[in-house]
Amino acid sequence: METNTLPVDSSRLGHIKLNQRPNALIDEWSIDFEEGTDLKSLQRAAQELRDTNTPVAFPTETVYGLGADATRSDAVRAIFAAKGRPADNPLIVHVWSIQQLQELLLGRNTTDRHPNSIPKIYEPLIRRFWPGPLTIILPNPESSFLAPEVTAGLSTFGARMPRSILALALIRLAGVPLAAPSANASTRPSPTAAEHVKDDLDGRIHTIIDGGPCEVGVESTVVDGLSSPPTILRPGGITVEQLRQCPGWENVVVGYKDEQEGVSRPRAPGMKYRHYSPKAKVVLYEGGAKAPKMGDLLTYGAEGKTFGVIRTMAWPAALGFPAEIIENGESECTNGTSSPADHSPPETQSHFSNLFRNVLQHSVPHAKQHRLSVFESKPIDIWDINLGSSSEDVARGLFSALRELDQKGTDVIYVEGIDDQVGDDIAAAVMNRLRKAAEIKM
Ligand code: TXA
Ligand code: MG
Repeated sequence: METNTLPVDSSRLGHIKLNQRPNALIDEWSIDFEEGTDLKSLQRAAQELRDTNTPVAFPTETVYGLGADATRSDAVRAIFAAKGRPADNPLIVHVWSIQQLQELLLGRNTTDRHPNSIPKIYEPLIRRFWPGPLTIILPNPESSFLAPEVTAGLSTFGARMPRSILALALIRLAGVPLAAPSANASTRPSPTAAEHVKDDLDGRIHTIIDGGPCEVGVESTVVDGLSSPPTILRPGGITVEQLRQCPGWENVVVGYKDEQEGVSRPRAPGMKYRHYSPKAKVVLYEGGAKAPKMGDLLTYGAEGKTFGVIRTMAWPAALGFPAEIIENGESECTNGTSSPADHSPPETQSHFSNLFRNVLQHSVPHAKQHRLSVFESKPIDIWDINLGSSSEDVARGLFSALRELDQKGTDVIYVEGIDDQVGDDIAAAVMNRLRKAAEIKM
């Protein structure tokens, strides 16, 4: 199967219109679509989702997803096959509107229809964080429209409304909810650019929609408000502090473990698998730890080896070793639609109004090659990436950095962790992914 990458510029899809209805949880939206190649490409992808069983990769604000019609078993099974994903790991269902979600909650049962079946506990979360990087766990009705493969046999399903306009428009054009896990091959780091999807799934799918690099860079936060107290099943783009500001969520508890060992039955089944792993051995230093010394490198038989370094807060370039710069990786700047980081208090209206306002340049840092000549025979190469010191920048660049260092053929990657004790930023999600990727923790 030939895999095509379809570039789509979301700013050329048309104009969004917001319709505020009294008592609605969030605004309704529509687009006056603009004829053109971008819309044509998106329509083609939507048609492929409706008419074939082959999944389509598309960008969201968190990571790229691998989508299929969530109501058709054959289409959903093909996601698991393309990724090599274990069948007991349920998928997130992506919706474009509250109404679409309500139909899923009602199912095929036409007699006893409630006008609003979204559990009350989720209302403040939906108002504040949707569309956005938050997945909520909901009861799956007996007469569900969802293919049973989506929920992997659970009586609940996870749902989210992404805030990437490209993702929203794709779901809307497809006319069906899209089941979509991250579009990486199982166990690999999640993809945050179309090239990453191509690296993993080339020949396994027909279409990758390229909407540029992802704004957030780590996956959505998964929360279960059906349990008491409400629980965070996976840390992600929405922080524990943000959740605690919402009525009913003041006492939300952490229901995941960063370490793999000893986790017998995690409640988000996906959390038990080896994850986010590059081919190289990852050595993770907790936030604040000093950079590794030459002695540390030597324990891996440094001579002739290629090392990767991912720096954040304080480590010096090339770990402070005197080295010659061989290749100077330039930052890659790509246009993308983005909204500003949200540190505002809970609002009553959703984030739709921000969707098209801010077109920011996301920049993803690239590796620089340094060469050390401490040994007579073979030099030591260090591929060095500085992700920057803000947790948001680290989150945005992390998966891309792990993948780039794999491509450079590094044997060992040293990572400077960030402080995730405070809980008021995305650091918890970053460190969760790193602890799962790491073979050695310092
Ligand atoms: O940001 C994201 O969430 C991305 C983009 C594409 O939307 N998607 C994503 O999907 O990360 P995936 O499949 O890689 O991760 C889904 C997580 C898994 O840990 C899974 O076990 C959990 O959500 N999950 C899904 N349905 C669940 C359910 N009914 N109960 C508990 N956990 C569930
Ligand atoms: Mg995933």
